[in-house]
Amino acid sequence: MHNAVVFSILPFCSAAFAAFANPLPCSGVCVNAHDPALIRRDDGTYFRFSTGGKIAIHSAPSIQGPWVYQGAAIPNGSKINKAGKDDLWAPDVTKVGDTYYLYYSVSSFGSQDSAIGVATSKSLDVNSWTDLGASGVASTVGKPYNAIDGNLMNDGGNFYMSFGSFWSGIYQVKMANPPTKVASGSSSSQIAFVPTGAHAQEGAFMYKYGSYYYLFFSVGQCCGFDSSRPAAGAEYKIQVCRSSNLSSSFVDKSEKSCTSGGGTTVLESHDWVYGPGGQGVFNDPSLGPVLYYHYVDTRVGYADGQKQFGINKLAFTSGWPVVV
Ligand SMILES: *[C@@H]1O[C@H](CO)[C@@H](O)[C@H](O)[C@H]1NC(C)=O
Ligand SMILES: *[C@@H]1O[C@H](CO)[C@@H](O)[C@H](O)[C@H]1NC(C)=O
Repeated sequence: MHNAVVFSILPFCSAAFAAFANPLPCSGVCVNAHDPALIRRDDGTYFRFSTGGKIAIHSAPSIQGPWVYQGAAIPNGSKINKAGKDDLWAPDVTKVGDTYYLYYSVSSFGSQDSAIGVATSKSLDVNSWTDLGASGVASTVGKPYNAIDGNLMNDGGNFYMSFGSFWSGIYQVKMANPPTKVASGSSSSQIAFVPTGAHAQEGAFMYKYGSYYYLFFSVGQCCGFDSSRPAAGAEYKIQVCRSSNLSSSFVDKSEKSCTSGGGTTVLESHDWVYGPGGQGVFNDPSLGPVLYYHYVDTRVGYADGQKQFGINKLAFTSGWPVVV
């Protein structure tokens, strides 16, 4: 009787903890897709921007591919004269009016001497980008944040950039219109923070759905899994908080404040998916909201250059995003 109870509970528990859908199939170049940014041009062509290769651009006729490498967005490196100007990270792309704005990070691993740069284009294509250099979002030793991983939110013509990685977490600053610079007189404020451990939280992405602003972010160790893999559960995963005010008061599903370590897990390691993160959300005309991210396919390999492009449909039915 005792054994029967144990055995009937176990399968239920494992199902409850493995309830993540696998990524949708992806064809063409789906590898080396670190920190992806996804956007669709009006002609139906999808563009994916990613870390490395001076912001690599891939395009495809469908969100699932076949993805083809096109070239570098910033082929000569950034105008920002800092270490890392030839190794740009964490792109973010938004269309405002008839112009695409590409934000990228200039830094070096573990350094707080960082800046977010901006480039513009009318078409998204390779050879169409003009690098404007510094956006004004920057950090040096002693600041509470590290100015990388910028993400622009266009709230009805008011622009806000969320950014940050480790240190005191995710910050936000108001941007000017057009959003090439910090708004004059605007100061940065903290919107999310993990007070424990190494404060491993970064890669913020804000998405409005219904009356809420959803703040997605990645927590845990991002990289280097082929040389040092952390304790199970300490690798990258994707969490979310929400607020009706895009500048403050983010909480998770249990109402825990997201400046006190709150965060509801949206996607974490499961099946052959390991360490998903660097995410964004895109409202696809046929699939609806999708979560896109990079992950290790454990059947392929754990190196940073082997990170795969993942996509899952997202349902907001309960008021909280769930991969389906
Ligand atoms: C890169 O530099 C080359 C050589 O100076 C120049 O001809 C080219 O226009 C530059 N490309 C961009 C995108 O700035
Ligand atoms: C949103 O939060 C900010 C920061 O706390 C605050 O200044 C602002 O008044 C809030 N907006 C609304 C509509 O409550």
